[in-house]
Amino acid sequence: MSKNFDVVVIGAGPAGYVAAIRAAQLGMTVACVDDWKNRDGSLSYGGTCLNAGCIPSKALLESSELVHRAKHEFAAHGIGTGPIKVDLARMQQRKAGIVKQLTGGIAALFKANKVTGMQGRGRLLKNLKVEFTPHGGKAEILSGKNVILASGSVPMELKQVPFDDENTVDSWGALEFDAVPRRLGVIGGGVIGLELGSVWQRLGAEVVVLEAMDDFLFMIDRQIAKDTQRQFKRQGLDIRLGAKVNGAKHGKSGIKLSYVDNKGEHHVEVDKVIVCVGRKANSVDLFEKDCGVKTDSRGFVEVDDECRTNVANVWAIGDLVRGPMLAHKGSEEGVMVADLIAGEISEVNYNTIPSVIYTAPEIAWVGKTEEEVKKSGRAYKVGTFSFAANGRAKAMEMAAGLVKIIAARNDDEILGVHIAGPMAGELIAEAVLAMEFSASAEDLQRTIHGHPTLSEALHEAALAADDRAIHAINK
Ligand code: FAD
Ligand code: NAI
Repeated sequence: MSKNFDVVVIGAGPAGYVAAIRAAQLGMTVACVDDWKNRDGSLSYGGTCLNAGCIPSKALLESSELVHRAKHEFAAHGIGTGPIKVDLARMQQRKAGIVKQLTGGIAALFKANKVTGMQGRGRLLKNLKVEFTPHGGKAEILSGKNVILASGSVPMELKQVPFDDENTVDSWGALEFDAVPRRLGVIGGGVIGLELGSVWQRLGAEVVVLEAMDDFLFMIDRQIAKDTQRQFKRQGLDIRLGAKVNGAKHGKSGIKLSYVDNKGEHHVEVDKVIVCVGRKANSVDLFEKDCGVKTDSRGFVEVDDECRTNVANVWAIGDLVRGPMLAHKGSEEGVMVADLIAGEISEVNYNTIPSVIYTAPEIAWVGKTEEEVKKSGRAYKVGTFSFAANGRAKAMEMAAGLVKIIAARNDDEILGVHIAGPMAGELIAEAVLAMEFSASAEDLQRTIHGHPTLSEALHEAALAADDRAIHAINK
């Protein structure tokens, strides 16, 4: 086997494997080195996203949402059931089956595209050499005309509440529980905290979410945050804001978490704890010290807008570099870098990366929040439309939440779209496309939407921005 490649990629998560496939499509010889090891010792491609992130979490969110609907919404449709039983082992098997199919799919795609997949650890040396050490094997040297670093991210630890892989776990551990905890403490009310907190709460756990910030989901539009916080509360999620966790004591009756807020010190006793206080770049021992790749103070590899590092022909993409830690952001960077290496024109539009939180209500957004637009000084108008007036949402028994569009006053440019409600993650795609093509609110107003669909809420919100919504009272 040749040890010389046009491109060597380190990491086969959604950033690395996509870069590898795209580079191969463009006619380059590619090796993709990945060291992912599952808890049962098996190896698989796909990184955090496929093995321990996006995919398994969405599988459990879907199953647990069905449990919730069966318990709380079927009756409204006139459907009676006996007591709803949860077979967690079966639910976990379904999840594992989906993960296996998708990770196996990456191996098949590597084969079809003639990407040389290599399972083991990669380390960048000087002069575009990569030391590859297979699991339990001897190191060998690969060389690439280009090297793409895509080693992703790992969970941040909380010194006061260290992981023990049994009762105090990270998000991966929380996807693997084999019994529903009676009382679950979630430290960090961000994306993972809300998604995994929702899973276990729907399956029967009493969930308390301890969030250090005073504002709920501080990064999203405030109007959407207020609306969703109310809905989570109604579902029974106990979200405590401004709560800084400062210790955990293990006793016979559980784990006693202590936290301080502006009223003083408090304690809460739980059986399991998920620590999800953010993730950090996985750059430890990724390169030989004197190979010169610069990282910032938090360990992110420094790159320009085109994902070039400071070392010629070394690129870095995905969670390892600045920007949101999202699978699709990493994948698009992978495509861009492969294109640029092949001499093609390519870019990532960082202003139109959608975010989705897969809770119920689902939350999705693209572009600026109203607060950010206000701060920018640009004159703007806002259109909102509530799912309570949307026929399809009513038929689905999911008529809560809203769509909000923010557009510029002078030229009608869409600046941000924010959705809380059914299928928000699917609906946001229309807004992303609109913004990608620099559409105006009027363009959305003139676009014909099927009836009755959830997408009509987006149409009506665009109309509302000019006080011409049909199914709502305008200002
Ligand atoms: P990773 O997916 O982390 O992959 C990096 C790969 O590199 C891994 O396989 C790792 O083993 C390997 N590696 C690391 N170092 C080396 C080395 N030295 N040698 C060889 N291999 C190495 N994002 C979304 O967009 N949507 C979601 O719904 C979503 N849900 C999530 C849910 C959870 C619970 C978590 C934890 C994350 C979620 N994310 C989601 C975030 C998403 O998983 C990441 O943004 C994405 O996986 C980053 O891709 P990546 O390729 O940069 O890194
Ligand atoms: P996060 O950054 O979303 O949330 C972490 C939260 O923990 C923050 O709200 C922070 O204020 C809080 N926090 C920090 N220290 C704390 C402390 N000591 N006590 C209490 N709260 C504390 O990070 P999270 O949820 O760990 O997820 C990591 C990343 O993974 C996300 O930023 C996201 O990019 C990605 N992800 C994406 C998903 C999606 O797209 N649907 C799903 C899950 C994860």
